[in-house]
Formats: sequence, C-alpha cells, structure tokens
Amino acid sequence: MVEPLLAATDVTVRFGGLVALDHVDLEVAPGGITGLIGPNGAGKTTLFNVITGLRQPNQGRVLLDGSDISRWPTQRRARAGVARTFQRLELFVGLSVRDNLLSAWEASVSGGVFGRSGAEGRARVGEVLSRLGLVSVADRRAGELPTGLGRMVELGRALCTRPRVLLLDEPSSGLDAAETARFRDLLLEVVGQDAGGPSVLLVEHDVRLVMEVCDQITVLDFGKRIASGPPEEIRDDPAVIAAYLGDQGVTDVA
Ligand SMILES: Nc1ncnc2c1ncn2[C@@H]1O[C@H](COP(=O)(O)OP(=O)(O)O)[C@@H](O)[C@H]1O
Ligand SMILES: [Mg+2]
Repeated sequence: MVEPLLAATDVTVRFGGLVALDHVDLEVAPGGITGLIGPNGAGKTTLFNVITGLRQPNQGRVLLDGSDISRWPTQRRARAGVARTFQRLELFVGLSVRDNLLSAWEASVSGGVFGRSGAEGRARVGEVLSRLGLVSVADRRAGELPTGLGRMVELGRALCTRPRVLLLDEPSSGLDAAETARFRDLLLEVVGQDAGGPSVLLVEHDVRLVMEVCDQITVLDFGKRIASGPPEEIRDDPAVIAAYLGDQGVTDVA
C-alpha cells in the first residue's frame, strides 16, 4: 500500500455530550481524489476542521507525509500545503475576483509576501484565472457573482496556494447540472496533473459525482467510519446503502 499523503488517525471530537467523530481513521493517497460521504451531521465538516486545525480533537492525530501536524496552527498547515474550501462560500465579497485570489496567494507565501515578487503572485493568479475560466470576471466584485462562479473563485483561492492536498466541502452545492458537470471536468483536470496538482479530499452530496471522480471513498455515519474502499465496493456495501445511499436513489449508478 502507498504511504498516504494525509492521514487522520483515531480522531474523536465531542461537543458536550455529542460525539461528532468517534475514533475515525481517514487516508488520502497521493495524486488521487478521495471521497468523504455520509448523511447530514455525520461529522464530515468537523473532520475537515480537525485536519485544517480549526478544531483541536479530543483525541487522535493528523499526519502530513508521515509528520505529525496535530499541534500546528491553521496557518502553518496551510503553508505546508493543506488548503480547503468551505461548505458556505467564504469570499471577500468587497474585493475583486483577482484580489481574492491574490490575497490567498499572499497568505500562503511562507514568511509573508515581503521578499517575494508581486509579479510571481500576479503570474500565479493569472494562470489560475484562465484555468478556471474566470478571466472575464476578474475585475468584478466577488460578492456580485452568482453561486456557480463564486464556487470557482473559492476553488481558485485554494489553487493559488499550490496546495499538496485540497479539501473541498460540498463544492457542487448551489450549482446546476451544467455547472456541476463543468466542475467535475475541472476537478479532473487540476488534480494530480503533471506532478504539480494536489491530491483531493472531496465532501460531496452529489453521489453520482463522487462515484465518477473518486478513487477511494470513506463513509461516515453518526461520527463513525462505516466503510472505506473503491467506489464499486462502496456502492454495493449494505451498511452504506442502509445509512446513506438508499436515500439518494443512486444505488444503480454505473
Ligand atoms: N461547533 C459545534 N458545536 C456543537 N455541535 C456541533 C458543532 N459543529 C458541529 N456540531 C455537530 O456535530 C455533528 C457533525 O456535524 P458536521 O461535522 O457539520 O456534519 P456534516 O458536515 O457531516 O454534515 C452534528 O451533529 C452537528 O450538529
Ligand atoms: Mg458539512
């Protein structure tokens, strides 16, 4: 088995009496897309928060490339290559699309932006704008954009930092079918490409999308990992169907 790029081991998070994560293990292999699925309230976003350092778990560790990063603050993890998007869009609504991306790049530069050329940041931002089809809206305020474009801007902010692992929290929510299809194609394009693309951990309600793009899927239910494996296995797993897929009407997805 390949060493995981990112691993969470034995993670437990309690909110008062509620056990949001109960001894959860998760691995993200280098170069691929790992899905994280499960019903509302299963603990997916909480696990993202633990991985990115927004929440300290009651128990458990987070490893990046084998190094224990559990005690690192959020910013240090980001600089080491852990990037995320949020379930609810979190953009600087008053800034232009371009400045949203530029500020993400600046925050990711280790030691701050001083000493790094502004040209380097602008070049990276330009690359990402064109890859995501955002050039024509680069000077618009992010707050004016429809959700579909807003999601692209958020993905752009994460990509500007050249992440090693990219955590996407329900990126297709608020997108229509055409936008979701476009998002899927972009995702496949930016991931693992010529050794420069990030590995992805994808939380997503659109199970069809998950089954199409993921190499591995982990399923959470009430804070517990109930299954983990390739899409073909997950689709036919009785526990997963009972807990989640049965309600999605997609157990027959090819
Ligand atoms: N800050 C919090 N305080 C109290 N309970 C929380 C908090 N964040 C999440 N929870 C609870 O933890 C459980 C897991 O939530 P979450 O990780 O958001 O699930 P998911 O992303 O899978 O829908 C839910 O029962 C939720 O209500
Ligand atoms: Mg969530």
